[in-house]
Amino acid sequence: MKENEVMKAIMHRRAIRRFDPAQITEEELEQILQAGMYAPSAGGRQGVIFAVCQNREANEKLGKIKRANSNPRMATGTNFVSKEQPSIADDPKLINAFYDAPTVITLFAPRNFLFSVDDCAVAAENMMLLADSLGIGSCYIGQGWTAFADPYGQEILRKWEIPDGYYAVMQLLLGYPRKEDRHPAAKPRKEKRVIRF
Ligand SMILES: Cc1cc2nc3c(=O)[nH]c(=O)nc-3n(C[C@H](O)[C@H](O)[C@H](O)COP(=O)(O)O)c2cc1C
Repeated sequence: MKENEVMKAIMHRRAIRRFDPAQITEEELEQILQAGMYAPSAGGRQGVIFAVCQNREANEKLGKIKRANSNPRMATGTNFVSKEQPSIADDPKLINAFYDAPTVITLFAPRNFLFSVDDCAVAAENMMLLADSLGIGSCYIGQGWTAFADPYGQEILRKWEIPDGYYAVMQLLLGYPRKEDRHPAAKPRKEKRVIRF
């Protein structure tokens, strides 16, 4: 297969949940946001709002609310999310569902639009691939609304002036991977998932 930069990022990107405390640079953040803004969107409506939070206290509080509102099926010896970068389903001691990531971007989209989740997911993938190409780790966090489901979360939504009718679809965590960690390996791909005629 011919070398291709996009394919390289696709193959190399992994969910990172153990972050260096150092913040990513403004230039890196801008590029990652640009990647999200240029993602496809249903009907070309560009409905996704990217709320960037680099306030550690707020990120920690929201991550803890999210953890408290999550009831993940806990991992077993054979069924786990990641041994190298454990998720909250792998390790009950993890109390912050945002894993202390220095940058947390919440993707908001209209509540009454059929393609809101799709729009956020494609934007997030663009951002994760670009992040990987810059040496930045990322993790997709689903069910974004659960981070705001308490009075502090509601206060944050008002402070951020999220328009009425929008909801938090997901979060994208960003930060440099810890230097001491080995880059995680992809799990083997399940077979027989392609059907060809
Ligand atoms: C829709 C979706 C929701 C996810 N939600 C979470 C989450 O809440 N917490 C988490 O730690 N990882 C979450 N992930 C990351 C997955 O756990 C991760 O992508 C998966 O284990 C495969 O690992 P890889 O990304 O390194 O290939 C989510 C991924 C997707 C696509």
